[in-house]
Amino acid sequence: MDIDRREFLKAAVGTVAATGFFGPSLKEVLGKPPRPIREFRFHASPARVNLGGGPDLVAWTYNGQIPGPEIRVREGEIIRVFLKNYLPEGTTIHWHGVPVPNAMDGVPEVTQHAVMPGESFVYEFEARPAGSYIYHSHVHYQLDQGLYGALIIEPSKPEESYDREYTLMLEDWVIRDGGGVAPTRRRPPMGMMRGMRGRRWGFGQGEAPLLEPVYDGYAVNGKVAPAMGPLLVKKGDRVKLRLLNPSSATIYDLRLAGHTLTITHVDGNPIVPMETDVLRVGMGERYDVQFVANNPGSWFLAAREGGLGEGRLRIPIQYKGVNRAEPATAVFHRGLRFITYWDFQARYPSGVIPSGPPAKFYRQTLSGGMHSPYWTINGQIYPDAERLAVRRGEWVRIHYWNPSMMPHPMHLHGHFFKVVNPSLSRDHWLLKDTIIVDPMQRVDIEFLADNPGSWFHHCHNLYHMEAGMANVVIYQS
Ligand code: C2O
Ligand code: CU
Repeated sequence: MDIDRREFLKAAVGTVAATGFFGPSLKEVLGKPPRPIREFRFHASPARVNLGGGPDLVAWTYNGQIPGPEIRVREGEIIRVFLKNYLPEGTTIHWHGVPVPNAMDGVPEVTQHAVMPGESFVYEFEARPAGSYIYHSHVHYQLDQGLYGALIIEPSKPEESYDREYTLMLEDWVIRDGGGVAPTRRRPPMGMMRGMRGRRWGFGQGEAPLLEPVYDGYAVNGKVAPAMGPLLVKKGDRVKLRLLNPSSATIYDLRLAGHTLTITHVDGNPIVPMETDVLRVGMGERYDVQFVANNPGSWFLAAREGGLGEGRLRIPIQYKGVNRAEPATAVFHRGLRFITYWDFQARYPSGVIPSGPPAKFYRQTLSGGMHSPYWTINGQIYPDAERLAVRRGEWVRIHYWNPSMMPHPMHLHGHFFKVVNPSLSRDHWLLKDTIIVDPMQRVDIEFLADNPGSWFHHCHNLYHMEAGMANVVIYQS
């Protein structure tokens, strides 16, 4: 789908060059400078961290910090990341949402071998299209141990205006007992182990996948409230927030006290701006929002309590020059606007995004969980899962049906997809790369097979993914 954005840019450049409005200068068009290369050095290693809500814990980190360093580049630049592995097991980095060349996608045994302890690997790809992304390890439970960070690709030409900007990563943690990694891992109860399969990818002989931990720390940018300092704003500011959810198993419903949020981008893609009171952000999803600072005081941007403790995730927002007080909390009363995917419209001039009738159709039934530690697609457990064969250039439709009791944020690597919306023409369907399929819900998506390779396709609940809810899209020649 980077084609879409590329086509769009081409179209935009065309019109603009003709009118000479904000287009590239003649010099830029004629003498194309080499693309700047932006280099980053990441060492993956265990490190002692403190999230502010309890004792130190040993997390797995990039460069010793939680989250990893923010990568911020301009669209069209080349990102080159030197990864050195100081962990006791193999690792990779996946560039979640970015349609990278297949060999750079970071999925063990699908696009590369894991980078073993002491080894290095160089990831290199073009930063395109602009948007908010997440990078993270794609090996075992490493995402839940701290191996993630933000990847921000700024547009090559400014496309929106704002006065200040914050990146906010929403993270679920186990803090008690020394935290996130081994000690609190939950094994399935014996009853569940009966009838379990033996050897599986990712597990030792006969080892069962783990159950979701019971999280007790909800952090933002590595800090649990109240350890996180407030976001400072000035009266009159237009503030942009990039809300990224690298959590392994938590969906957040967010509300900003005293203000209305305007959503501008969904999974990095521009939409016709939409206001909402409550914004749901699933694992792997990204939302760019803006608000106008027109209500001086101290406020919380907070998550709704859904019974798992995620209501403790809160971000203080403080107006400059206003006396610090305990921030006003966000109340989730009845009758709030709660936006859904089908309320959004992609923001492209019509006809610019390619679209066409799907040539292939796949049904994916998402189930499992009840009496087994496994989660499945069409009853199959990855890697013993049928692959979805596609041909380059064709549109592919996937129909998801979720008869299970859990929501599944389904993520497709290497492509954006359109969310099928019968009340809009194809040209305006929302572009995403991760979509929550709710219990008892049916959802259709379509994507253009424009990026050859083998692409992982899975639930972004890490514990569901590791328990089998995954398969691979392959290109046939
Ligand atoms: Cu966030 Cu398979 O990815
Ligand atoms: Cu799932």
